[in-house]
This record gives sequence, C-alpha cells and structure tokens, in this order.
Amino acid sequence: MNMDAISRLKERQEAVVLAHNYQDASVQEVADLVGDSLELSRAAAELDCKAIVFAGVDFMAQTAAILSPEKRVVLTVANATCPMAHMIKAKDLRATKLLYPRAGVVCYVNSTADVKAESDICCTSANGVEVVNSMEQDQIIFVPDRNLAAFVARHTSKEIIPGNGFCYAHDQFTVDMVREAKAKHPNAVVLVHPECRAEVIDLADAVCSTSGMIREARESDAQEFIIGTEVGMLHPLRAKMPGKEFHPLSTNAICHDMKKTDLSKVRQALETLEPRVVVPEPVASKARVAIQRMLDI
Ligand code: 13P
Ligand code: SF4
Repeated sequence: MNMDAISRLKERQEAVVLAHNYQDASVQEVADLVGDSLELSRAAAELDCKAIVFAGVDFMAQTAAILSPEKRVVLTVANATCPMAHMIKAKDLRATKLLYPRAGVVCYVNSTADVKAESDICCTSANGVEVVNSMEQDQIIFVPDRNLAAFVARHTSKEIIPGNGFCYAHDQFTVDMVREAKAKHPNAVVLVHPECRAEVIDLADAVCSTSGMIREARESDAQEFIIGTEVGMLHPLRAKMPGKEFHPLSTNAICHDMKKTDLSKVRQALETLEPRVVVPEPVASKARVAIQRMLDI
C-alpha cells in the first residue's frame, strides 16, 4: 500500500498514528511513534493533533481517550482487545478491596477503564516496581497480571495481593524452552518480559518492557539475544540493530488481537476516523486520576 496515501490522510485529518511494538512490521513503518505502553500513554497525553489512530488493542486506545478527551481517538480494529484485561471485573476488585481495606490498589494498564477507575494508580511493565514502591500503604492489591504481580513482589518489601490474570502469549513460555534456546545459542543474552512466569524470569539475564528490550540490547556488548515476548517485538529489534541477532524464545508467542491490524485497517481508520473510542464520564475522570498519578512519577 502506498505510504504517500497514508501520509496524505494523516495530514488531511491532522492525525497521528501510534503503534505498539507488537504490531505488524508494515504497520510499525507507517506509524509516527512505535513504543511500549508507557511511551504510548505519555505520547497520547502530550501530542498536538486532532486525532489519534491507535494500532494496538483497546485498553491502549482507551488510555489515550481518557488522557485526551478533546481528541478523537480511533482504534484500528473495533474488537482488538487484551484478554488479560478482562480477567478481572470492577465488581471483583471492589470485593477484594473490602477484604483488604487498608491496601493500596495498583492496576496494570492492561485493564478495563472500569478497573482503572477502582484503582489508586496504574502501572505498566516498565514501572511496576517503582509505582508500588511509591505507595504509602504496606499492602498492595495488584491486578490483573499474576506474573507481573509476582515479579513486583520479589522487588519490593511491600505485601502484594495478586490478581489471577495472565497473558496467554507470555504465560506459555517454559523453563525447557529457555534451556533449549540457550543450548542452541550459547552466547545469547536472554531478555524476557515481566508477564512471563517466575521460573522463566529466573533463567533470564534481564527483565524488561518491550521498549526496555531495545534499550537493553543496544547497551549490551552481546551480539545475540533470545527474546521472551510476543514475536512482533523481533521487528523493531532487528530494524534498529541490524548488526545483532535476535532469536524468538518461541515462534508461537503470538498475540492474535495485536495482529488484527494491517495496513488496510490503518488506512480505513484514517479515512473514516472510526471506530472511535470514547470512555464515558465519570469512569473516565476516575481512571484519569490513576493514569495521571503514574505519569507524574
Ligand atoms: P509493554 O508495555 O512492555 O509494551 O507491554 C504491553 C503488553 O501488552 C505486553 O504483553
Ligand atoms: Fe494482552 Fe498479552 Fe496481547 Fe499484551 S500480548 S495485549 S498482555 S494478550
């Protein structure tokens, strides 16, 4: 598809295209910014444009809509969602809060707007430990990702009450997979996402958000890396560091919702500025407090 056509549409609509690191390579190439959840949330809060077209999943576009209600936020595919985000409901979180009335509530940004509205603060994979340590409470309810909760619990003195959600793309990695990959690539550094299980994290050299993996690989003297996250991540790593080698921990680690977007969907979203993502007040105003607190850290 003609890149010029996309550029003309962006100009006409005064729109910016944001894409997550897991998006298809062709989509990343037409995006104005490609990043992890934290970078994309920051950009959404600061951008000077009329419309944001989000190539990602719904919670990412909702976060942008919550932070920039004056902009038109469009998701490239209406039903692109994060299954983990739906593994906790606001009513279940309210029930947990009643059980632990003195606890602070941290929700991973991979959550619904209703859950964010019930939380004190959000975090992403890049800042979970920092966010938890910034809380005044000694006991923290952390939802929905049980693996990220376990990772945070190992890096804080606070008591973590974890949710029971998980990401099917990351939870599938096993110790055997890491051992096999290391045997095949003995000089490779192992980078994994904190949504992986604890026993997989234990075998890694570094645990990073998606964009954190780019920084880690860039700063490392190593020439080879095993990448324990969704396979889309291989594209930005290889594009930014053509001299280094990147091996997926598993080629089956595919987030099917992230893959629903292709170039034709980006073009259609730019043409129609639909499907628009709107988070109704007062949910948005409560969720905004939790997201803004994170951005303020
Ligand atoms: P990052 O914020 O690290 O990009 O992660 C988002 C995500 O959905 C991981 O599965
Ligand atoms: Fe959700 Fe996992 Fe897909 Fe990330 S990779 S959007 S956590 S299902």
